[in-house]
Amino acid sequence: MMSDTVLERTVEESQSERSEIIFPADANALGNLFGGRLMQFIDLVGAVAASRHARVPVVTASMDHLDFVAPVRVGELLILKASVNRAFKTSMEVGVRAMVEDVRGQRLRHVSSAYLTYVAVDADGAGIGVPRIVAETEHQKRRYEEAGRRRELRGEETTRKREMRMSLGEGWHL
Ligand SMILES: CC(C)(COP(=O)(O)OP(=O)(O)OC[C@H]1O[C@@H](n2cnc3c(N)ncnc32)[C@H](O)[C@@H]1OP(=O)(O)O)[C@@H](O)C(=O)NCCC(=O)NCCS
Repeated sequence: MMSDTVLERTVEESQSERSEIIFPADANALGNLFGGRLMQFIDLVGAVAASRHARVPVVTASMDHLDFVAPVRVGELLILKASVNRAFKTSMEVGVRAMVEDVRGQRLRHVSSAYLTYVAVDADGAGIGVPRIVAETEHQKRRYEEAGRRRELRGEETTRKREMRMSLGEGWHL
């Protein structure tokens, strides 16, 4: 089943952005944004990009290559931008870039980047086919090519996960 009758969508249609002012409740003992909270922001903005492309519910299959480049301090303005790099059959690779905005100097500082894979699913959790992505700009075309290479590298991990699930079955285990 396809998520939509539309066969392709542009990268621009998936683009999503999230802004967060960092509060003390989000910080670690050093007063910097806690890594797990940043991962949550990244996952959320990435899920919006994937949902905009698929136009059905999506689940996070994996997050890879998460770089914490620089700390984010309490009171800083965090900007996260996400878009679909490439759509495959039921899955999509989304790239997320997190930056701190210096509102006075109107500058951006890169703090983190990540690649995530989301899978479009129906109400029973079964995969649904997604539209192809149309990469228009040079940047988008480069990301599209790189996403293909990363998928090849990820193949082994996907197989490992499938084997793990088959050995565990669907039930609870001690
Ligand atoms: C993600 C999930 C739907 C994949 O289902 P599955 O039965 O393993 O499906 P398949 O092995 O047939 O793979 C389906 C697609 O997912 C991709 N995929 C599966 N595991 C992956 C992984 N670890 N990393 C990247 N892609 C993965 C496959 O490459 C395939 O892509 P394609 O259809 O575009 O070729 C399933 O593992 C799941 O529901 N996991 C839990 C998701 C979740 O709860 N996330 C957190 C909360 S949102």
